[in-house]
This record gives sequence, structure tokens and C-alpha cells, in this order.
Amino acid sequence: MILFSPNCSDLGVPNIEIKKFPDGENYLRVPSLKDAEGNQVTLFHRAYPSQDSSLIQLFLLLKTLKRATDKITAVIPYLPYARQDKMVLEGESKSSESICNIISESGCKELVTFDAHFLKMKGTYRYGNLKIRNLSLSDELISYLYSECTNPVIISPDKGASYMVVERGGLSMEKKRKGYEQSELAERKVSIMKTDAKMEDRDVIIIDDMIAGGGTMARAVDICKKKGARKIYCGATHGLFLGDSANKILSAGAEEIVVSNTILSPYSKINFMDKLRGLI
Ligand code: R5P
Repeated sequence: MILFSPNCSDLGVPNIEIKKFPDGENYLRVPSLKDAEGNQVTLFHRAYPSQDSSLIQLFLLLKTLKRATDKITAVIPYLPYARQDKMVLEGESKSSESICNIISESGCKELVTFDAHFLKMKGTYRYGNLKIRNLSLSDELISYLYSECTNPVIISPDKGASYMVVERGGLSMEKKRKGYEQSELAERKVSIMKTDAKMEDRDVIIIDDMIAGGGTMARAVDICKKKGARKIYCGATHGLFLGDSANKILSAGAEEIVVSNTILSPYSKINFMDKLRGLI
């Protein structure tokens, strides 16, 4: 049985009801819950944008489905809270793990997602109490952009995303962010970024797991330009595109930006559903 949340109407006909109470709380109903009894259920639900509300919807949906079956796979294309995966200051929340634990406790047997930030590898893993199948869209992004350029250099802007490029012979830049302070949470600026990759008179493809504020990608484009790159193409699995991030990247000199439809945007050219064919 396959269930689509209303926020996945571009992927399948929604068969779950989600409404808002006047005070903003979520109302959820799975009208076909009886049919789920004892069966394998695959739930498609986006947890971005409005990640807090979307996650509450997910927890409630899982709890509801759990009344009928314990075979629940949740496809959450972009997993939010994935970037808070370290405790740096005393007393901080390790949000990535806590969110995964709540998903598991709510009844999810397996979570399928794409390029989860904290895993930095594709494959099947246990993170906290949750079994996660982390698929990567790097091949699809690279192939799409490859067809637009000539003999490109492929790079990732930091080591965390190097798994997305190594199989295609790509290299990683080195990236460091400025000091980690509360006041910088809104926009954590990239301070150092460098690469030894030779790119003079070559096209370049830059691949990352996500574009949020766009600072990382814009900086990477700028460095490639300064190193004499010809045309620079940017690809990322998740396009959050906060503020004027897309313009920032294009003004830095990028020829094109491509992301997938894990989050819908005008730059979504890669369909993650193609990757799931035959897998679930
Ligand atoms: C960081 O390690 C990630 O892989 C991305 O590079 C980063 O989250 C992108 O964020 P922003 O677009 O805000 O620089």
C-alpha cells in the first residue's frame, strides 16, 4: 500500500487528509487505515518547508499507521535537522539523532531518504534507533550537468560531500566555517575554502548535498573562477534556496544550478522518484 501526503501531490494522488485546526494544530486522517492492516505500507511525506509542523504530521501519521501495521517505510526525501549532528557547546541538542529516534519510536521501520547530511555516505545505516536507507542523487546530478559541458573537472565544496564525487573521479575542496556562536546560527559564514584542483580553461561541475543560504556554493564558484575555470555548473540534491541564494550563486559566475525535487523549486530538474523505481 502506498500513501501520499498532500505535500507530495506532484508524486502521486494524495490519500491522506491533513488539515489545520483554527489554532494552527494539525488534523490528520488516513481514511484507508483498515486496508493497511498487517500490510507493508510506504508513506511519502515531505518534511520541508515548515519542517516543525511537517515533522509533527509525520510523527502523528506514523503513530496512526502503527495501529494497523508494523511494516512501515517512510520516504522523507529531505530530512530536516540533519545539520545539527554534533554537540559543540555544553548542553546542546543533538537534533539529528533525536529526530531520528522519534521517527523510529513513532513506528517507522525503515526511513528512505536522499543524501542525508549527517551520514556522508550512501547505503543502509542505523542512526540512533532508526534504520535509514540513504540514497544519493549525485550520479543523476553529474550526468545531467555532464551533458552540458566538455570534459569537466568535478568537485565538491567540502569533504562531507566528497562521497558524491569520488566515484566519478572528483575532488573535494577544503572548507572551514567561522567560529561557532549562537549569534552566527542564522548564517554561518564560510571562512576558508581552497582546492589544489587544476581547472584552468576547463569546465567545472560543483556537487553538494544542499544549497541553503548559498554561501558555500557561491564561494566555490568564485574560487573556480579565480583559478581560471571556463563554465561552472552547480548541482545539489536539496535546494532550500534561502533568501537570495540562487542569485548569489549565479552572480558569482555559475552558468546553471540544478537540484532535485526532494524540495520543489524552479531549479528542480532531477526526479528522485526515478531512483526509487524497483527499490520500494
Ligand atoms: C555543509 O557541510 C553542507 O554540505 C552544505 O555545503 C551547506 O549546508 C550549504 O549551506 P549554505 O548554502 O548555507 O552554504
